[in-house]
Amino acid sequence: MSNQHLHDILIIGSGASGLSLSLQLAQHSDYRIAVISKAAINEGATFYAQGGISAVLDNQDSIESHVQDTLNAGNGLCAPDIVEFVVKNAGNCIDWLIDIGVNFTRSSQPDGNIYHLHQEGGHSHRRVLHSADSTGKAIESTLENQVKAHTNIDLFEYHSAIDLITQHKSGVTENRCLGAYVLDQQSGKVKVFRAKTVVLATGGAGKVYLYTSNPDICTGDGIAMAWRAGCKVANMEFIQFHPTCLYHPDAKSFLISEALRGEGAKLLRPDGTSFLRRYDEREELAPRDIVARAIDHEMKRLGSECVYLDMSHRDSEFIIEHFPTIYAKCLQFGFDITKQPIPVVPAAHYTCGGVMIDQNGRTDLPGLYAIGEVSCSGLHGANRMASNSLLECVVFAHSAFQHITSALDTIPYPGESKEWDETQVTDSDEEVVVSHNWDEVRRFMWDYVGIVRSTKRLTRAQNRIRLLQSEIQEYYSHFKVTNDLIELRNIAVVAALIIDSALSRKESRGLHYSLDYPVQPVTESGQDTVLQKVLPQAGNTASNTR
Ligand code: FAD
Ligand code: SIN
Repeated sequence: MSNQHLHDILIIGSGASGLSLSLQLAQHSDYRIAVISKAAINEGATFYAQGGISAVLDNQDSIESHVQDTLNAGNGLCAPDIVEFVVKNAGNCIDWLIDIGVNFTRSSQPDGNIYHLHQEGGHSHRRVLHSADSTGKAIESTLENQVKAHTNIDLFEYHSAIDLITQHKSGVTENRCLGAYVLDQQSGKVKVFRAKTVVLATGGAGKVYLYTSNPDICTGDGIAMAWRAGCKVANMEFIQFHPTCLYHPDAKSFLISEALRGEGAKLLRPDGTSFLRRYDEREELAPRDIVARAIDHEMKRLGSECVYLDMSHRDSEFIIEHFPTIYAKCLQFGFDITKQPIPVVPAAHYTCGGVMIDQNGRTDLPGLYAIGEVSCSGLHGANRMASNSLLECVVFAHSAFQHITSALDTIPYPGESKEWDETQVTDSDEEVVVSHNWDEVRRFMWDYVGIVRSTKRLTRAQNRIRLLQSEIQEYYSHFKVTNDLIELRNIAVVAALIIDSALSRKESRGLHYSLDYPVQPVTESGQDTVLQKVLPQAGNTASNTR
């Protein structure tokens, strides 16, 4: 059977961004679309999203207010035109989600809004539309059902993209993306996927850190692939730590939605006293960078392993109705949120930086788009506001859809690409190297490149990552690829990008807080951190596939 697959559009990733794009393409064209996912189709950050998706739906609220809150949270680094573009398009995108069948929670107030709205950190109004506390599951499942009904979408589960195929790599000076090399995890074979247009929708990189709210697929593969292909990558120092993940050895940093704080939950020290007023007048509803840093400070000051989140003063029926998933999960670990405070800690949650794109999702590599958490669109700046991410996924899926369909007929199909070269490699005899290095990267990123940083710790991390990267590269060039090895190579690239970006920022701003620049994080407008790999001369690589 041929190892070469040819499509009009190749979408790598099947979360809210990848599936929204594929569905719109299928609804409005006959193009042949491939969607590949390195796990089951619904496995990704989208599925676990809790709080909801932001949009101006209340008549007391306004577009201007949503724009201003987003800019405030972003600490002077948002692109104002992009913020306005996303906020203004939110209404249409929500209508589209409702049209395809997403079941958002309705308001029980007879004369008020149709839908119940949450409030979360940084938002000055209730504007977060949700499906109880499992909004991501509602969106992802609806998209999955819709996508599966379209015969012009070919779905490839358990297929891991390894690297992009570019014209540059095949020896032509003018660069263009032509497809991707993809490991079929079941057969162990590397396939060639070619397409007129390729879209990265691979999500974020929380797994670079030891403790994260993210599922296992979040290893920053799209960012690493785009970086290796020569795309600009921006603002990687801005890793968002969610303030409240359940603190329990078996809970795998299960998220406790910020929407609880929107409904009155208070953060408490172990002695039961509240503390956020000392840090920000918005208290529990301050943006995440402020709340996570305050918790980190209190934990270190008191030598405490966690702080507590208390919602027990609210009516238990209300809690169970609005937060059924969180209630059940906490109960499973022995905590009843209707009766007692629960232990919480911050964990890595969201990658604000990523592959630089324009308003249509275009990267600077012709033929390559990036949408969703993999991208840096200018919406989030130095700190993302809660529930703006699912919104970004759907808005950019829509703008990319429009741009792709306007240009696709003029683009020729790429010719056959070289097959993946396995002549120089063997099966690994030292898997322990992979698991050890995985663990090492995640641990020193947590210890040295976390919520509070310093130049000394960052420099230490930079030395470690350089050594590890050469060891991983050496291993990669000798052994056959596996999913673990692909991910390890990628988390190492992303870790290096985070460290290099953090070291180049000579200030504390938003999510990047350094003890060497201890003044309050600045808010006036600043510069993005943009990094770009210098590519070897066209076609002049040791092996054209690896
Ligand atoms: P994902 O949904 O992460 O999908 C990525 C896809 O890419 C997956 O299909 C994966 O298999 C695939 N993939 C990755 N690498 C490869 C590869 N190499 N080859 C093939 N396939 C690959 N945001 C909000 O706005 N509101 C919320 O309430 C909210 N709650 C959250 C709660 C949790 C616990 C988490 C983790 C995040 C939350 N977020 C929330 C953030 C939001 O969910 C994500 O930013 C968003 O869902 C990302 O969607 P995506 O399509 O970009 O990526
Ligand atoms: C949450 O529900 O707290 C997560 C929301 C988000 O990450 O946007």
